[in-house]
Amino acid sequence: MFADLDVVILAAGKGTRMYSALPKVLHTIGGMTMLNRIIKAVQALNPKQITVVVGHGKEAVIASLPEGVQWVEQAEQLGTGHALKMALPNLAENGKTLVLTGDTPLIGTETLKALVEAAGTGVGLLTDVIDDATGYGRIIRSADGQVLAIVEEKDCNAEQKAITEFNTGMMVLPNAHVANWLGALQTSNAQGEYYLTDVIALAATAKVPVHGVVVAHSYEAAGVNNKVQLVELERILQRNQAHELLLAGVTLRDPARLDIRGSLQHGKDVVIDVNVVFEGHCVLGDNVDIGPNCVLKDVVVADGAQIRAFSHLADCQVGPNSEVGPYARLRPGAKLLGQNKVGNFVEIKKSQVGVGSKVNHLTYIGDTTIGERTNVGAGAVTCNYDGVNKYQTQIGDDVFVGSGSLLVAPVVVNNGATIGAGSVITKACPADQLTLARVKQVSIPSWARPTKQKKD
Ligand code: UD1
Ligand code: CA
Repeated sequence: MFADLDVVILAAGKGTRMYSALPKVLHTIGGMTMLNRIIKAVQALNPKQITVVVGHGKEAVIASLPEGVQWVEQAEQLGTGHALKMALPNLAENGKTLVLTGDTPLIGTETLKALVEAAGTGVGLLTDVIDDATGYGRIIRSADGQVLAIVEEKDCNAEQKAITEFNTGMMVLPNAHVANWLGALQTSNAQGEYYLTDVIALAATAKVPVHGVVVAHSYEAAGVNNKVQLVELERILQRNQAHELLLAGVTLRDPARLDIRGSLQHGKDVVIDVNVVFEGHCVLGDNVDIGPNCVLKDVVVADGAQIRAFSHLADCQVGPNSEVGPYARLRPGAKLLGQNKVGNFVEIKKSQVGVGSKVNHLTYIGDTTIGERTNVGAGAVTCNYDGVNKYQTQIGDDVFVGSGSLLVAPVVVNNGATIGAGSVITKACPADQLTLARVKQVSIPSWARPTKQKKD
């Protein structure tokens, strides 16, 4: 879309006010780091290249970058102007550069597109107007509305502090001028830094037009300097996502009590109760019902399935018309093929459960394949681990595993087998037979209860 556009994202700062060991730009919003959210928004513009200026916590920041995104180092954080200077070798001689800060995570592609277009061959400056612009650089305009300069909060006089239009930190600069302007920056300001914002006055002096663009939504311009601002933007993102789902026909019992930390794909007539958290990429088919207080991460739920209250599912598949929970745990590799029932306090890991099979109560199934129409009784456990290695359990079709049975893997239970309750199974169970592996019950008729002995 913008073949002559370079992008630079400033992300070298420490984020002192976050009071965290994690570099500021790696704090997450909606399950994605602030930096990656911004990168995603600019990638949609198809720029020529994207460079991130790294410094504080650079190993972690570099490791977090998506493929194809470049980085340059700013070893000492001498200000935003100095940070952009570090990226000069990556910029083309001509064309333009979109400069972003790494801490405005909700900036949208449409707004950036409008900014790049408005800049033309001059400067584009994204601004916003709010009642109280405390903390931001203020926009100074001439009587006829021309942008003349940006004055940082700490350098503002009382009159300038009253200005409600502020710098979002996002601007477009013509590459032909950028090196000159950055070379001319001085540190004679309240913070003793090279302010990128001073290029605006230099542009005005050079008679390069500065086109101010006001953001469509204030949250797009909001910067994160502390955890209060981080959580405010998190709530705005979540509200926006919930509203999109409602408008697309999903029933949410309360849009304020849903968190999507990733992406959610859905069919028709999906119902989601309160306090549900989705992480990674989740897919819900038609008529799926998710009960309250469930956590789903990278889960595919097929048509008509119900996930009941307090269930925890990760990296797994729930087949059509299955019922899971309440209080079920499906761990990575759990695959329910359909019409299954997985009940309370059941844990399933790396196992496939065939169509129509049920595992209803207090059971652990790991490294197992279960056929169709099989019933696993309460408290059954596949003993898949000997302390060193993991082993497979195979359970066929139409099997009945009695309550409290232990299946010591590797072991095979053939089609139609019945296992008596409380059995410890260590060998293959033949098809269509009853297998018992427990101490035989005995009763002793001559037995008498002990009587209380008298003390001397
Ligand atoms: C900056 C702007 C201010 C604007 C605000 C919007 C300047 C001087 N001020 O202020 O006008 O209203 O953003 O949110 O530009 N960074 C570096 N290297 C540095 C310093 C900063 O890479 O040496 C990065 C930080 O990691 C951060 C971004 O630049 O992602 C902005 O830095 P920050 O210190 O948060 O600037 P603000 O004081 O918010
Ligand atoms: Ca900031």
